[in-house]
Amino acid sequence: MDKADILPTTVPAHRRPHSHRRAWNAFLISLLVLTLVRLPFHWKLHPRKTSHVPLHAAETLQKCRMLDVLPAPPSDFNARTESDRFVEGTPPTLIRNATIWTGRSNGLEILHGDILLDKGLIKAVGRVKESLVQWYGDDLVHIDAQGSWVSPGIVDLHSHLGVLSAPALSGANDGNSRKGPVLPWLRSLDALNTRDDAFKLSISGGVTTALVLPGSANAIGGQAFPIKLRPTKERSPTSMLLEPPYSINGSEVDPSLPPRWRHLKQACGENPDRVYSGTRMDTMWAFRQGYEKARQIKNAQDAYCSKALAGAWDGLAEFPEDLQWEALVDVLRGRVKIQNHCYETVDLEDIVRLSNEFKFPIAAFHHAHETYLVPGTLKSAYGHPPAVAIFATNARYKRESYRGSEFTPRILADEGLQVVMKSDHPVLNSRYLLYEAQQAHYYGLKANLALAAVTSTPATVMGEDHRIGFVKEGYDADLVIWDSHPLALGATPKQVYIDGIAQISSPHTTPKPSSFQYLPATPNFDEEAKKALEYEGLPPLQGERVEEEVVVFTNVGSVYVKREGGVRQVFLASTGERAVVVVRGGEVVCTGACRSQVQSLKEKAKFVDLQGGAISPGLTAYGSPLALQEIQGEVSTQDGYVLDPLRVELPKILGGDFSVVQAIDGLQYATRDALIAYRAGVTTGVSAPKSAGFLSGLSVAFSTGAGHKLEQGAVVQDVAALHVSIRHGGAAPSVSTQIAALRKLLKGEGKGELEHWFKRVVSGKTTLVVNVQNADIMATLIRLKKEVEAETGHAIKLTFAGATEAHLLAKEIGEMGVGVLLSPARPYPAVWEERRILPGPPLTQDSSVSLLLAHNVTVGLGVPENWAARNIRFDAAWAALEAGSEISKSEAIALASVNVEQLLGVAISPAQSDLVATSGGDLLDFSSKVVGVISPRRGVVDLL
Ligand SMILES: *[C@@H]1O[C@H](CO)[C@@H](O)[C@H](O)[C@H]1NC(C)=O
Ligand SMILES: *[C@@H]1O[C@H](CO)[C@@H](O)[C@H](O)[C@H]1NC(C)=O
Ligand SMILES: *[C@@H]1O[C@H](CO)[C@@H](O)[C@H](O)[C@H]1NC(C)=O
Repeated sequence: MDKADILPTTVPAHRRPHSHRRAWNAFLISLLVLTLVRLPFHWKLHPRKTSHVPLHAAETLQKCRMLDVLPAPPSDFNARTESDRFVEGTPPTLIRNATIWTGRSNGLEILHGDILLDKGLIKAVGRVKESLVQWYGDDLVHIDAQGSWVSPGIVDLHSHLGVLSAPALSGANDGNSRKGPVLPWLRSLDALNTRDDAFKLSISGGVTTALVLPGSANAIGGQAFPIKLRPTKERSPTSMLLEPPYSINGSEVDPSLPPRWRHLKQACGENPDRVYSGTRMDTMWAFRQGYEKARQIKNAQDAYCSKALAGAWDGLAEFPEDLQWEALVDVLRGRVKIQNHCYETVDLEDIVRLSNEFKFPIAAFHHAHETYLVPGTLKSAYGHPPAVAIFATNARYKRESYRGSEFTPRILADEGLQVVMKSDHPVLNSRYLLYEAQQAHYYGLKANLALAAVTSTPATVMGEDHRIGFVKEGYDADLVIWDSHPLALGATPKQVYIDGIAQISSPHTTPKPSSFQYLPATPNFDEEAKKALEYEGLPPLQGERVEEEVVVFTNVGSVYVKREGGVRQVFLASTGERAVVVVRGGEVVCTGACRSQVQSLKEKAKFVDLQGGAISPGLTAYGSPLALQEIQGEVSTQDGYVLDPLRVELPKILGGDFSVVQAIDGLQYATRDALIAYRAGVTTGVSAPKSAGFLSGLSVAFSTGAGHKLEQGAVVQDVAALHVSIRHGGAAPSVSTQIAALRKLLKGEGKGELEHWFKRVVSGKTTLVVNVQNADIMATLIRLKKEVEAETGHAIKLTFAGATEAHLLAKEIGEMGVGVLLSPARPYPAVWEERRILPGPPLTQDSSVSLLLAHNVTVGLGVPENWAARNIRFDAAWAALEAGSEISKSEAIALASVNVEQLLGVAISPAQSDLVATSGGDLLDFSSKVVGVISPRRGVVDLL
């Protein structure tokens, strides 16, 4: 370490001019020469101590002295005046009048003031002296933040940006090697595709740094690298690196400097087991074998060095090293941050056991859905308890995540463990990583920790908290200016700085209600969190049926109902006077003051205080196999896939290729995802048979809160719509073949059941839902619709579901009266056929929702995955926020209720429609919680 002063220390090894490396080599050689020159002198004085000294002695001794030096920035790092990532020509920038969340004082410090950026660094925070401003003169770019919130750039501890690129192409699937379970010699850097469309999108959500991890198909998948997301003039992967641990031309470390942190991806449980058709036992043995090999090398090195340092060179050959295992040896030397994908108790304990057997710490457990159940296991890990990097609500997709809880962040924080929210991009689009922190906050994680969970905590867990993750003098100039409080729903960057460079060339923002500038109040979930622990992650979810015939909701702030094909607000409290809603036998009989109704109550009534909350229509979820499967990764828990007539011959017993499958026959009630959605205000689901090909079948509308199919109101509509998919690269043959099949069917060339249902489609009696993402296919479908309608004279009810590229044809779709179900609600260019997204603010003023609505298209929001059904109320609110005043609250609720129903051919009369009671705010607010469901069709009121 003391050698650090000899060389300039602010430049990472690979950027340091070669002259320094040469100088260092020259220094080593001269040292060696000096030693050799002095030898004869020694000889005379101490003849018995002589031994054969190899030529590389000085270098080797230096290596030996550095072996156990722990990673750290150079000692004078904080005195740097220019960032190693500074780009010549970047203007200095003064951000005035900001509300600054600095990340300091455990995330509790908030400053009102200015921030000065120069040379890629934050030069001043708080009050910037006028003399300094004068000194910069005209060079200084002035930004008036007008009181806006500013946070450090978002740091993603778990990303596959660049290695699982968008759009996904078969030539760019670089997440995982399949060459074995233990591959510590692989490096994500070697696969980093700088052409990933997602870089720009993630920056537009405020992400400035990401740790790019190899995938989880191996026990040890390879080394991970932190990168900054901004484009560089070099356009190279290396130029994106943040503090590379070694020279990029090899893996040798400059011995004159303390090493930099390295990262290694490990995984346990299902993923590596699946790939190597092994078991957990096999995976753990593979780990132990690998670590044993590393331990032997380390021991050999240590033995070698203790001799070499004692001058006992006799019998010492080369320093024992192995390029293949050097990273794992470094783990044992405490110089590698282990980022460990690990979910279940059994796996967490396996890795903790491994860490104690081989004596290395775990930086973080990732995904880690059961960590909240076993904090003690984490605390018994070697060295220190691992941090926990998690999703907010993405769970139950496999056994390992079945007990996942939205209360994990708060429970772990209460245990004193570090909480990180991560994207696993592209599993979740990291553009919305902040939303994970918002949800964690909603479910009870303290605000300071929630914001830290995507900034300072991941920076710390990464070992980069000396330069990123905080708004602090001397730190990298990575900042986000937000259009609202960052924990308010839909918070969107007004500008993002990386290394002091503004990243969004002409940002579009939409004005928000002033209340969004404040930390959102969130409901109390103490009881729910307690139950999650009590029931080991599987708390009962069904509603509590109200026994009383009459339920009186008091203190109601607003009431929305279905009316005239839309949603209308029929009551909004002005201060002081709030409404009462009286429900008898599951039906609303009075809204307003209702004094006489309440006074004349003969029977015992149940009173529920909504604390200014709302009554609104229940929402409808479509787009995932909700109620057709319990666990996505487990075939034994699901209805399964239909056979596709374009690929295989359908069994005769079904009626051959012209049979039609109905989702109603595969329904499973009381799945956890359906009940969790119910508890979040989604009272109706519409699901179509699961298909990987062309023809799906008939969808069904069902009540998410019902216990079984035979209950009153459990099935809302036996047949909703007829569903087909037209897509590139699926299980079906060519797109043109799929269109040819659809044309034949629409022209009456089908037989049997299929002929029957297509006749209904052509005569406008049944809605045809086409799952389609691509605008070219949509254009073909519009032509086909015209062609068939011209022949029959009937309008076909057609809905495009998915529809990521629908905005490109907004006008034509509007003119043709085609409906659009956007799924997901916010677009991502996952594959080629959906690459042309309309990203929305801050990259574009319009979003797909606002543009399609402007063309009079009926728009609904879908959810592609079961777990996400619970979040559609926030999706709807977010869509409205992006559109500003163009979408009212009523219209936002319609996007996730009546519009979805209409687009899927579901007709539920207002009188038979469910209503949802929220306390503390309306359905769209972070301040509210769903506390009840009024279901006339089921004849019940459930309290939740
Ligand atoms: C900061 O901005 C807020 C909001 O625009 C404004 O009310 C306030 O006067 C500004 N403060 C200063 C010091 O400019
Ligand atoms: C190492 O790589 C860099 C970047 O590609 C290159 O400029 C440099 O010449 C290389 N150095 C050596 C010693 O090969
Ligand atoms: C949408 O409908 C409104 C009301 O019917 C009409 O005024 C407007 O011109 C329509 N817009 C488009 C783009 O068709």
